[in-house]
Order: sequence, then C-alpha cells, then structure tokens
Amino acid sequence: MAAPDQRVAVYPGSFDPVTVGHLDIVERGAALFDRIIIAVAPDSSNPDKRPLFTTEERMGLLRGACAHLPNVSIEPLQGLLVDFTAARGARVIIKGLRAVSDFEYELAMALMNRRLRPEVDTLYLMASAEHSFISSSLVREVARLGGSLAGLVPPLVAQAMASRREGEPVLRGSGTV
Ligand code: PNS
Repeated sequence: MAAPDQRVAVYPGSFDPVTVGHLDIVERGAALFDRIIIAVAPDSSNPDKRPLFTTEERMGLLRGACAHLPNVSIEPLQGLLVDFTAARGARVIIKGLRAVSDFEYELAMALMNRRLRPEVDTLYLMASAEHSFISSSLVREVARLGGSLAGLVPPLVAQAMASRREGEPVLRGSGTV
C-alpha cells in the first residue's frame, strides 16, 4: 500500500514481450508519478492468445528493461485491474494509445473500469510517433520469421527471443527468470 501522499499509477498489460513503445510509456509515467506499478496479465488472461513468454519470464524481462527506473516495480496482475489498483492505494491506471485503431477497445475498457470503480481513472499517454506502429504481436511475427528486432525491443528482449527460437532457456545466467 502506498503512503497517502504518494502519487501511484498502475501500468497494466500483457507485455509479451515488452517493446520500446511500452518502455517509453513507463519512462514518461515514472517522470509524472512517484511510483509506477507494472501489472503483468497472467498467461491465462486471454484464451485466444498463446503467450510466447510465461508470466514469470515477461516479469523478468520487464525487470531487466526497467532496471534504470528506481520508482518502477513489477507485479503479476490478479483479478480485476481496478481492484488491483485500489488495493495498492493507486487511483490512476496509465495506458499508451498508439492509433485510432486502439481507441474503441480502450474506450470500452476505460468506461467499464470507471463503472466498476469510479474513483479509479484511466490516463492515456500518446505513443511517441516513432513507436506508434510497434506492437508485441508484430514483434513476435517479425521474430518468428527471422527479421531484425533492433530498435523494436530492448536488447535483452531481442536476446531472449533469439534464445526462445533456439529452444534455449530465456535470460540464462541472469538469475531473474
Ligand atoms: O497488453 P494488453 O493485452 O492489451 O492488456 C490487456 C489488459 C491486461 C490491460 C486487460 O486485459 C485487463 O485490464 N485485464 C484485467 C482484467 C480486468 O480488469 N478486466 C476488465 C477490464 S474492462
């Protein structure tokens, strides 16, 4: 639970994997709030999606990618996002918005979340122009077909994706996953 005078925001997502677009939102959020909690959706959250990385692996990659941000922590998301947020003393959910195509889905979620808990609000940060085309699903496709991931994901994620392709353990030796 946050101290009463701390401004805390929750940044939720699947992060399968974390991209430079996600990182941009975390860095900007970390400059706006005292603390950011990244809430990582569990493997089972979307039955239509087969995750490339397990929740633990995605959290480990996020930990590595956010190591330079002392006010950012990473937790598994359990239950409703608004309940998770309120339980941590936060009143703000931050999200990145890339293009008009994101809008409809995000509007429905923001309105549902507000209906569930009016005291928790959603704050959207516009993706930086150079990241507006980057999504985890496109990154997974580029990786699967052997394309370069340079500039799309943090270097440790590119390394982990190469390891996954080769059938090797992810983040071997780092002790984080
Ligand atoms: O990165 P994603 O896959 O777009 O993230 C989706 C996520 C995790 C933000 C969304 O599925 C979510 O909020 N899940 C938590 C469960 C919940 O509260 N559902 C009701 C939302 S309206």
